[in-house]
Order: sequence, then C-alpha cells, then structure tokens
Amino acid sequence: MKRTAINLLIIIISIAILPRISSAQNNSISHKVDSVLNLMTLQEKIGQLNQYNDDLYATGPVTVDANKIAQIKRGELGSILNSQGTTRTTGWQNIAMQSRLKIPLLFGQDVVHGYKTTFPIPLAESCSWDLDLMEKSARIAATEASAGGIHWTFAPMVDIARDPRWGRVMEGAGEDTYLGSRIAYARVKGFQGEIPGATNSVMACAKHYAAYGAAVGGRDYNSVDMSERQLFEYYLPPFKAALDANVSTFMNAFNDLNGVPATGNKYLQRDILKGLWNFQGFVVSDWASVGGMITHGYVKNEYEAALAAITAGCDMDMESRCYKNNLAQLVQDGKVPVALIDDAVRRILRKKFELGLFDDPYKFSNSERETEALNNPEHAKTAREIAAKSIVLLKNENNLLPLSKKLKTIAFIGPLVKAVKQNKGFWDVEVPDTDSNFIVSQWEGLTDKLGKNTNLLYAEGCKVQGEDRSGFEEAVNVAKQADVVILSIGELRDMSGEARSRSNINIPGVQEELLKAILATGKPVVVLINAGRPLIFDYTAENATAILYTWWLGSEAGNAIADVLFGDVNPSAKITMTFPRSVGQIPIYYNHFNTGNPPKDDNDRFYRSAYIDLSIYPKYEFGYGLSYTSFKYSNLQLSKKKMKAGESIQVSVTITNTGKYEGEEIVQLYLRDKAASVVRPVKELRDFKKLNLKAGESKTIQFIIDKEKLSFFNQQLQWVAEPGEFDLMIGASSRDIKLNDSFELID
Ligand code: GLC
Repeated sequence: MKRTAINLLIIIISIAILPRISSAQNNSISHKVDSVLNLMTLQEKIGQLNQYNDDLYATGPVTVDANKIAQIKRGELGSILNSQGTTRTTGWQNIAMQSRLKIPLLFGQDVVHGYKTTFPIPLAESCSWDLDLMEKSARIAATEASAGGIHWTFAPMVDIARDPRWGRVMEGAGEDTYLGSRIAYARVKGFQGEIPGATNSVMACAKHYAAYGAAVGGRDYNSVDMSERQLFEYYLPPFKAALDANVSTFMNAFNDLNGVPATGNKYLQRDILKGLWNFQGFVVSDWASVGGMITHGYVKNEYEAALAAITAGCDMDMESRCYKNNLAQLVQDGKVPVALIDDAVRRILRKKFELGLFDDPYKFSNSERETEALNNPEHAKTAREIAAKSIVLLKNENNLLPLSKKLKTIAFIGPLVKAVKQNKGFWDVEVPDTDSNFIVSQWEGLTDKLGKNTNLLYAEGCKVQGEDRSGFEEAVNVAKQADVVILSIGELRDMSGEARSRSNINIPGVQEELLKAILATGKPVVVLINAGRPLIFDYTAENATAILYTWWLGSEAGNAIADVLFGDVNPSAKITMTFPRSVGQIPIYYNHFNTGNPPKDDNDRFYRSAYIDLSIYPKYEFGYGLSYTSFKYSNLQLSKKKMKAGESIQVSVTITNTGKYEGEEIVQLYLRDKAASVVRPVKELRDFKKLNLKAGESKTIQFIIDKEKLSFFNQQLQWVAEPGEFDLMIGASSRDIKLNDSFELID
C-alpha cells in the first residue's frame, strides 16, 4: 500500500513539473531572444525572415540563387525547406554555424501524411472519424521526420472545402467545420507532441490561412469572396482549433480574400490572428506568395510587396526574395519601422529557442535515431490500421462482402491493381536512401491474404486514362473464370493535390465501360474506387454489386484493402465530404440553409430551391458509410427539455449491434437552431462518438449539450447562443436520422 502511495506521489509531482513552456521558462526565452536580437545587424534580422528551398526538389517555381551558401555564412537565412536527412541538414547547419551569431537554421517540409511511412491522404483519414488514430498517425510522421532532421512540417492543412473539383480537398478534413476543427486539434497535437523541442516532434503549421478552400469554381489559387460572418462561422474555426492546440506556426495563402491577398491581409494576420487570438508563433508565406501579390495586382513591385506583407503580419518570406531584396531599403526609407522587423524576428527566434536549437543546432540530426525511427515495424502496423479504417463501404448488395477466403477463383482486374506509388497519393515524401516508396500494392495485399487454395487471376483491362479498349477482351475472359470479380479503378494520384483541379470529376477514361463489359458476364463485381476527392460514378453506383471507396491509402494500401475485403476489418468509415450526383450540383453540402422555398422531397422541385432536372439529394451525403453489420438506435433521452445559458443537457442514446459481425459505428449528433438573428443551417454536426460493438452488444452513450454547442457568429460577429427552440437529431449520417427530439434554450 505504502509503495503505491509513493508511486502516486511521484506521478503527481512529475506531471506538475512536466517540462512545458512554463511562464518562468517563457520569460527566460524572451530574455534570450532579446539578448540575441540586440546583437543582430539589420541585415541579419532580415535574413531570419527568409526561407529558401534546398536543391533536392521543389514544391514551387524555383528562384535560382547561386550564393545561398554565402548568405547563410553571413547569417542571412532563417530557414530551408525541402531539405532531408541528418547528413544534408547537418551540412547546412554547419554552414550556419560559421556565421557571426551562429543562429541555427530551421528545416521545414510538407510532411502531410507521413514521412517514410505513408499514411492515407488526410481526407481519407478524416473519414475514420478516429481522432486518436489521426493524432497517432501525425505522431509517427513527426517521429520519422524529426529523426530525419526536420524541425517543422507544413501541416495540418485545415482548409474547409465544399467543392470536390478543387484538387486540394485530398489534403484536408472535408466540409464540416466542427469535425474539421476537432481533427485540426488532433493533428497539431500529434505533430507537436506534449513537450516543445522533443526530438520526436516537429512544429506544426496551420494552413492555408485563410479560406483557400473556398476558391471560386474549385479552381486552385482562385479568388475567394465571402462575408465576414461566413469566414468566422465556417472557415476560421479549424485555425482557431489549431491555435488552441498550441500550433507553432501558420502559413498564409495564395488566394485573395474579398479583394486582398491573404499574404498581405492585415485583417487576417494582425487583427484576428495576432490581435484577437493573440497568436505568439510566426506566419510563413506560401511559396513565393509575397511576390505573388504583384501578379494579383495588389502591389506594383517587389518593394511594395515586401511592404504589404511585413505590414500585414507575414513574418517569413518563403522563396520570393522580396524581403531579402527590399526590407533594408524600406527601413531606410522610413516605410517599415525596425520594430516591425524585430517583432517578426522575435517570433522566429523564440521557436528556435523552444526547439533547443541554440543549445544544440544538431539535436534533430542524429543518424542513430534516424535509423531506428525509420525502421520501426509498429509504424507500418498503425498505417495498416488507419488505412483500413479510412475505407468507406458505399454499397454491399446481397451482402457480397466480406468475401470468403475459401473462394476458389477471384479475378482482380483494373489499371490500379498492381500500381505501387499511386497508392501514396499527393504530398507523399520520398526519403533518400530508404524504401519510402515501398508500398504494399493491392495485388500484393491480396496475394498475401489468400492461401494457395484461391486462384487469383489478373488483367489490367484498360488504363486509367485514354480510350483504348483493347484490354477488355482479356479482362472479360478472366472474369468469366472467376467466382467473383474485384475491379480497381479511379483517378491517378496526381489528378488531385495542388494545382490539380478538375472540371469533370467522373472516373476517367473507359474504366466504367470496362465495368459494364465485366458485369455482362453476370459475375458479382466489387469495385474499389481510388481517388483523392469525391468522384462522380453513377454507372458504377447503380450497377456494381459492392463498392469500397479506397482513396489513396499509403504504404499499407494492399494489406488494408485485403483486410476489409475479407472481413478481417469491418469497414466503419463515413464520408466527410458530400458526393455530388453531377458537377452541376456543386457546391452541395449538408449544413445548408433552409431557404424560403425548400423542397420537401424529390417530387417537390418546382418553384423550389432545387434543380428541375436533378434529384435534390447528393449521391452520398456527409456522414454516410456502411458496415458489414447493422446497428439499432434506441432510447434517446434528454435530461431536461429546457436549459439556461449556463446549464447543459445530458443526452443519452443506446446503440445495438444487430448484425453478425463486430463493428464500429460513428454516431452523429446534429442540432438545428429553429429561429435566430441569422438563418441557421437545417442541421449542424455538434458532436459524435465512435464506438465498437460486438455482435448483439448494446451500449448507451452520452453527449453533453452546452451553450458552446448552440452558439454561432451573429451579424455583429459576436459568438452567441440565442434563446429559442432547437431540434436534436441522432444520425448514422446527416440524412439517415435515427432519432429526434427538441429542447429549448431559455433566457
Ligand atoms: C506549396 C503549397 C503549400 C506548401 C508549400 C511548400 O505551394 O501551397 O501548402 O506547404 O508550397 O511546399
């Protein structure tokens, strides 16, 4: 007994003194920052505000800079992006240590969904609704990247997006602000860990600030125009959630917002981020977006671009050279006070101190740790687990799935069956001298899963793109020999991602014609759809026997797909972005306003807010996803029907697994504010729980409704909850509402 008490005491004390940036440390770091700042020349200060690309590869248009090394030796560079590995980062740091003040370099990279181990693209992961697992995925990415000398990842991308034509939907967490905020928080925590400067963590970067996902027409880099209320209500909250998770940096954006480019947007960066939200980290531009303001037509030249950006609160200039070439002159001309430069430098130096780089500039570049971190089998296991949990079961006619492992003959057909790197999706990382491109292909996953007694046949059938149908005959012949056909089709991985917007989001080429030819054999067909966005695939949706949306699942793609196909994992994912029926239906999202003429149903489309020639419903709604089992929702109870602002309502509901497979269910809680000072959506996700139930098992789960969940930004941009009636909906998706009730918020 005594020992336990002592242990408990030790735990309590250690938690209390857990090395966080306590206020005492904060002061000492501020003191250290100022002591360095006071030694710096103006040129050295300006140097800290620049980030250049390494020479390995580029994620934007490169500015050739022959004297990069000389600049670093003069202490005139703050950070390098896209440098990798302990050897290379050590090399750059060695040069920085030759400078007068030996201010260490920061190394940043887009470690978006994995470093050596590639995880599912973030949009796929978001469909798992598994916050712990998404945090763990980011944790592993950070562990591997930091072991490779990286201090800072340009992730998570937290842009809310409602237009699947936009290629970068693959990088985010879908259309919903509440879910996107929860995921943003989890990912920042995963990347940064609990202890700033820990060598298994990296600084995170909330991007792209702000509203980049609302580009007109889903065309990347395009203009964004919206009310401030919409900005605060739907697009800023995930950034605020990242800030609440103590995110170290923000990245601004390429788009203009209401006529002002985000990079030069003082309202966004100074008034809101550094003012209202009191952000203490630093803001980096997007690739050359400082100079990009000339192209926008916002400034005339680089001199004005540098002035606009530094004045607006953009602390670091990625790659444009506008700061390097103009800030000294701007100071000399009295246009930029040194205080503004000092503020930006302080923010950057503070992070370098917090990371411990002044004590040991090489602390992250450790080859032993790199070897160990990059060869940890646990990482692949986690990748396989989250990949399987990201696969969405869209259709399962006659319960064709899961397939039996005892099937005699399976035909595995399609242009993506034996693809390898395609499974990495966009924003993958190639780590030199490692097998970061080792991916379990879909073919490999099935061959590893199936015993000798299953004959697995293969045919490519066709390419992803193009009109060549010459492979159809072989594919049909292979299909005829099989008990079941698995067809793996979709878009290519570089048809989504940055600068990958598509005007037509159908499954490209003749892939659906291939499906049609195979279906003519009368065999049951499971279709795997590989994509970085919601696609449109009406023929497949109507005619395939079963459909799994497999996104781009990363290193363990083949194993995860095999786990789900053969029932070792019961799919539980639910889509976090609406799938439209047609491009004409875009934008379509679940949390829309009711309007004054809402259609009641698909037969009520005239003189309604509806198309006369198309269903009012999307193909698949936000929150939709099937399971191999079934769930019953019952016994919805509210602790009371009236609540005051300072009170809360306990909501309980019982979920029962009524099928024969153990499975996970994502129970969604939606609210509707029936009447308010601004119109409110027909429903909004305000909570969710993912629970595992054995066949026949029931669990009663609880939610808490408090004022926060009832609040919104009113016309004065105040965050308020207004008295009145609320509908409460418990759903298996935003459309499949199982139980309803209502309550009232009273004064
Ligand atoms: C790119 C992207 C941004 C990325 C940066 C550095 O243009 O917009 O998300 O972090 O440049 O690669």
